[in-house]
Amino acid sequence: MSSNNKKRVFSGVQPTGSLHLGNYLGAIKNFVNLQNDFDCLYCIVDLHAITVWQNPVNLRANILDVASAYLACGIDPKKSIIFVQSSVPHHVELSWIFNCISRIGWLNRMTQFKEKAGKNKEKVSAGLYIYPNLMAADILLYLADLVPVGDDQKQHLELTRDIAQKFNNDYSEFGGKDFFPIPEPLILDESSRVMSLRDGTKKMSKSETSSMTRIELKDENDLIIKKISKAKTDAFPIPESIDELGNRPEVKNLLNIFSSLSEVPVLNILNNYAGKQFSDFKKDLSDLLIARLEPIRNELIRIEGDNGYLRDVLEDGAIRANEKSERNIKEIRKIIGLG
Ligand code: AMP
Ligand code: TRP
Repeated sequence: MSSNNKKRVFSGVQPTGSLHLGNYLGAIKNFVNLQNDFDCLYCIVDLHAITVWQNPVNLRANILDVASAYLACGIDPKKSIIFVQSSVPHHVELSWIFNCISRIGWLNRMTQFKEKAGKNKEKVSAGLYIYPNLMAADILLYLADLVPVGDDQKQHLELTRDIAQKFNNDYSEFGGKDFFPIPEPLILDESSRVMSLRDGTKKMSKSETSSMTRIELKDENDLIIKKISKAKTDAFPIPESIDELGNRPEVKNLLNIFSSLSEVPVLNILNNYAGKQFSDFKKDLSDLLIARLEPIRNELIRIEGDNGYLRDVLEDGAIRANEKSERNIKEIRKIIGLG
């Protein structure tokens, strides 16, 4: 809870590539909505990004890209704190403390590590393995109550809760009782998960080689039209009911995208298009995407042309985040016996 009695929200996005429609509908759009009711911190988690090698030139550009995307999508730096993780040193300090609280057995259960490491377990960085402890430090450093994330991050949130509980317990006699709030994930429903335009069973992702699988926030209108017209569908017309979408993942995905952008339930959209060909629907979907994304893209271009503005926002964010984290880390050190 923050000093003004509003609940505190924390979330982060990694600066590892161009942001896409999945990042927007599954994360950033929600960040924007939360800033009126909560005290929000939105971080660019560069220290998470380097758990996998990053070209320094690209990393520097990607950090600014995520910051511009936050702003262009509507995060207001007067209401929320926008900052870069590495500009607040306490994240690393608390993550070390959490490396000593978190258990190897807990980390071994993390499915994202297993997926990312694959058969290469012995060769990936130690950072990738303890990555969830750093994520717990991000959240708990600010005593955050709520964490908006995609459902792929749910397990990391559970680990964060376990770390908070274990810390509070282990140090209960030393001022740690109830010190950390037990943060709740804010996970949007399944429809906000955006799938690849080429394979409706895979998530739209920055790391997929073909950019035809995703709509990027920087895509020009013509490219949006092209990607949607080439998006995979099937030989059947648009169905009448949600039940009939069951084994048609690509169709379901396009309808979900339409629904998230227009905030109209899928059933109403089906009522409009049932029995029609995909070409009509795709035309309207492209128009809708352009109507939503063009202003964001224009704003991105404007912000990117104004380096001073971006630098000021991030400097101010770092100062405000440091003020909060400094207060908490001092108490944490005291509880542990480190000062
Ligand atoms: P990432 O791109 O993995 O760094 O994710 C940044 C944020 O966007 C996280 O909260 C993810 O859960 C969310 N996200 C990433 N890809 C998608 C997607 N395809 N659909 C919905 N949310 C997504
Ligand atoms: N692990 C998150 C992801 O890959 C990014 C992240 C890092 C994060 N720290 C966080 C998200 C703290 C929410 C809160 O998407």
